[in-house]
Amino acid sequence: MLLSDKNNQKSEKKLPQHIAIIMDGNGRWAKKRALPRKAGHKAGAKALEGIIEGANEMGIRHLTVYAFSTENWKRSEDEVSAIMDLLRQYLKTYFTRFQKDNVRMHVIGDISRLDQDIQEQIIEIEKLSADKDGMTVHIALNYGGRDELRRGITVLAKRVEEGKLRAEEITEEMISNVLDTAGVPDPELMIRTSGEERISNFLLWQLAYSEFYFSEKLWPDFTKEDLEDAILQYCGRERRFGGRLTESNEVK
Ligand code: IPE
Ligand code: IPE
Ligand code: MG
Repeated sequence: MLLSDKNNQKSEKKLPQHIAIIMDGNGRWAKKRALPRKAGHKAGAKALEGIIEGANEMGIRHLTVYAFSTENWKRSEDEVSAIMDLLRQYLKTYFTRFQKDNVRMHVIGDISRLDQDIQEQIIEIEKLSADKDGMTVHIALNYGGRDELRRGITVLAKRVEEGKLRAEEITEEMISNVLDTAGVPDPELMIRTSGEERISNFLLWQLAYSEFYFSEKLWPDFTKEDLEDAILQYCGRERRFGGRLTESNEVK
């Protein structure tokens, strides 16, 4: 099933190390079937399992998935509590399901607003999976790029206040290191499903030079094969990082 079977681009271009996904379209998936939105979220959680499996098989090192944004609290109480219940169930089975695959789990976002039992589950799974050295799945929960920057800036401002850092010495690297993704390379590829073409407050700092791939498919319908297609398209793209290509095709 691997990329190289489809064509030979894999050997020519490097696979992305880090893929970020905005898993969008659960509600529309349910609506099309005259089901409650909750059913769409359930199908979405199932699709995520397949994508984690696929990404791991393909040798991706980091997968960051947007599961619940800081803005998603605006939804009805009913929908939010259905999502939180699904999250509870998901976390419960997560560790046993991915243990054999050597997948590590890490949450980004401000978990302090989540129910206490969910926070405890998250801390437990992060601890239990910490020694896995396969792919890391970063789940974005109560995550917002602006909120993440605000929290990070507060950390740096405190250091300045305490006289441990001079404001003019703040570097881009220091900013990266106070974000939830500290130590993780920026995503080379960002995928959004459901036909929407916006970033909706996802990884604002980290996506500075990522390639974007938009799929018309609704998230519950997104498969490993779709992920492969996205990666193949990424492999065919030319990244310049503001520089220009030399004759040897190296960015200078
Ligand atoms: C994404 O699907 C899941 C979350 C935001 C939690 P949506 O629920 O946004 O689905 P649509 O966009 O309404 O179809
Ligand atoms: C982004 O999707 C958040 C997640 C997928 C968790 P939304 O459905 O919340 O984004 P908008 O409202 O369409 O921008
Ligand atoms: Mg949506």
